[in-house]
Amino acid sequence: MRVIIQPDYARLSRWAAEYVAAKINAAAPTAEKPFKLGCPTGSSPLGLYRHLVELCQAGKVSFQHVVTFNMDEYVGLPEEHPESYHSFMWKNFFSHIDILKENVHILNGNAPDLQTECLAYERAISEAGGIDLFMGGIGPDGHIAFNEPFSSLTSRTRVKTLTTDTIIANSRFFGGDVSQVPTTALTVGVGTVMAAREVLIVCNGHGKARALKHAIEGAVSQEWTISALQLHPHAIIVCDEAATDELKHGTYKYFKDIEKDNL
Ligand code: GLP
Repeated sequence: MRVIIQPDYARLSRWAAEYVAAKINAAAPTAEKPFKLGCPTGSSPLGLYRHLVELCQAGKVSFQHVVTFNMDEYVGLPEEHPESYHSFMWKNFFSHIDILKENVHILNGNAPDLQTECLAYERAISEAGGIDLFMGGIGPDGHIAFNEPFSSLTSRTRVKTLTTDTIIANSRFFGGDVSQVPTTALTVGVGTVMAAREVLIVCNGHGKARALKHAIEGAVSQEWTISALQLHPHAIIVCDEAATDELKHGTYKYFKDIEKDNL
């Protein structure tokens, strides 16, 4: 696993966006051979999306031949609800780039049969040829997508019950009212993320320090589902200084040293 430590949120977001743009450009995608990008929501990737929008608007990257698959969506929240992940993605990213609507995939949390929806999503990913680069964030309890603690590390897309911790954390988007936060979600599995050719995680702020410690220094464990990334051949975590607060001094120094030419 690579760990890129940037001084602050603005710099980590720029680093991540430039990395993603470079990957898309290097793949030289076409309509026949599009680049498949996995997309997260949450506050962590907002800066990354902002920079990608800037790069796209400056003509430095195009999403015309990019196919996206989002990580997750709440169950039962109308698509047009301002806090649905559909709304989030169009508001913060898709509306500002040259992506084709038909190339966007987001789980339907209002599907009549949620299990069928999840199976169809996995099938769509595999029919597209798998995900080239899955971007992601980390929950404060170390979850990736909505793979809460003790999710199977080989899990695939399915319905998950959200933990009280996550409901409280996400209530900030629902006027602080926990009763407004959906209690279940559809999410890609840890195994779905692990099957991507590359995974890029953004992690910022002191509130993520414990999760980052477990991701990097802890054992691979279903308790901190992000730790599964230790088994991925091409995983990168881009973080800011604040998120490193709980890392061992030696770990911090090691990554600063080994990545010094890539910061
Ligand atoms: C939610 C999302 C995750 C995200 C996490 C952290 O639970 N399902 O994909 O990583 O929140 O969110 P934030 O970046 O706002 O801290």
